[in-house]
Amino acid sequence: MDLGRELDALRARGRYRSLRVLAGGARPWLEHQGRRYLNLSSSNYLGLADHPRVIAAAVASLYDEGLNAAGSCLITGHGPAHAALEAAIAQHQGTEASVVFAAGYQTNLGVVTALAGPDTVLFCDALNHASLIDAARLSRARVVVWRHRDVDHLRQCLNEVSAPGGRLIVTDGVFSMDGDVAPLPELTEVAEAHGALLVVDDAHGLGVLGKTGAGLAEYFGLRGRIPVAVATLSKAVGAQGGFVAGSATLVDYLVNRARSFIFSSGLVAPVARAAAAALEVIQDEPERRQRLGAYARRLRRALADQGWQVVPTAVEEVPIVAVVVGSEGAALSLMEQLRQAGIWAAAIRPPSVPEGTSRLRLTVTADHRPEEIDWVIAEFWRIRQQWREAQDGGGA
Ligand SMILES: Cc1ncc(COP(=O)(O)O)c(C=O)c1O
Repeated sequence: MDLGRELDALRARGRYRSLRVLAGGARPWLEHQGRRYLNLSSSNYLGLADHPRVIAAAVASLYDEGLNAAGSCLITGHGPAHAALEAAIAQHQGTEASVVFAAGYQTNLGVVTALAGPDTVLFCDALNHASLIDAARLSRARVVVWRHRDVDHLRQCLNEVSAPGGRLIVTDGVFSMDGDVAPLPELTEVAEAHGALLVVDDAHGLGVLGKTGAGLAEYFGLRGRIPVAVATLSKAVGAQGGFVAGSATLVDYLVNRARSFIFSSGLVAPVARAAAAALEVIQDEPERRQRLGAYARRLRRALADQGWQVVPTAVEEVPIVAVVVGSEGAALSLMEQLRQAGIWAAAIRPPSVPEGTSRLRLTVTADHRPEEIDWVIAEFWRIRQQWREAQDGGGA
């Protein structure tokens, strides 16, 4: 393969990406090449990565327990920090047990490949996260893709496809590139009616949704009722890692069969302690969640009112606001105009999203300030006017 030519082809299609050195990527303001930008690309939704209780827990653990992951969890890597974190997750999620992986991506690979094999059929929402797609491929199960959030289509697929080795329904909770949410009440019903196991990856709902921040399931009154509840510790929890929460039997099975758990070192203890502290803050400081929800709602509504194509969502408090502009070029141009104004937001292009739906993906955090949200709204309005004028001028 001619790698240089492949890269040139990516450049020609507006799909080339490169690493940049950003200082403060998890903070409300980041710095790049000596300039400060308002950060609308962080997943540190509640600002917990910098929370004093979280930092204190990590630092104390660093001195007490050291940094090394010590090995895979089944050998020497499962210490008191891991056991405490898993107990805290299970308590928060309302499940019997939980198991922690070194990353959310690894969690999805481990769960899906452990639960599905060549005889299984995986029913996957069309917009599932890449880690679930990769997991499905690796499992060698038959994959049936149902139209995004379309429960009638899922029902139809379930009726049409026989699955001697069992069925799994697999979906994101909050969809990472769109900010809309899975219809969990209907999915729970459909899964029960068809004897399918429901797997929900609530990476972006954890901490953010529900009365205690347990996520989308709690928002819908289903806390503890998702058979295979997955999430990451790398977003609102402000740390790193991923987990599965469910029955003690499920967790026992995954510990024995999830290869990405068995053959990889566990979290380092300070990260596990930090995550456990963050879970406490999530429950103790609901005002962070409320502030975040209010920002998300305000930004979403204001941009839609200005005429931008904002992906609609049933839960306006979701902190992901996706502004679809169509082509890769348009997304890059909007990103650049915002950057010139001092706002950092990510242009998301294929293959991360379907062809023709390139977008700006904005994320707000509880640590932003109201006037910063107002400023973003004003900049979007200014750019919209410019685009209109350019269009009118072009047509004249
Ligand atoms: C829905 C979803 N699942 C899984 C992941 C992977 O999580 P992690 O970054 O912890 O590997 C992400 C984030 O990148 C995600 O958005």
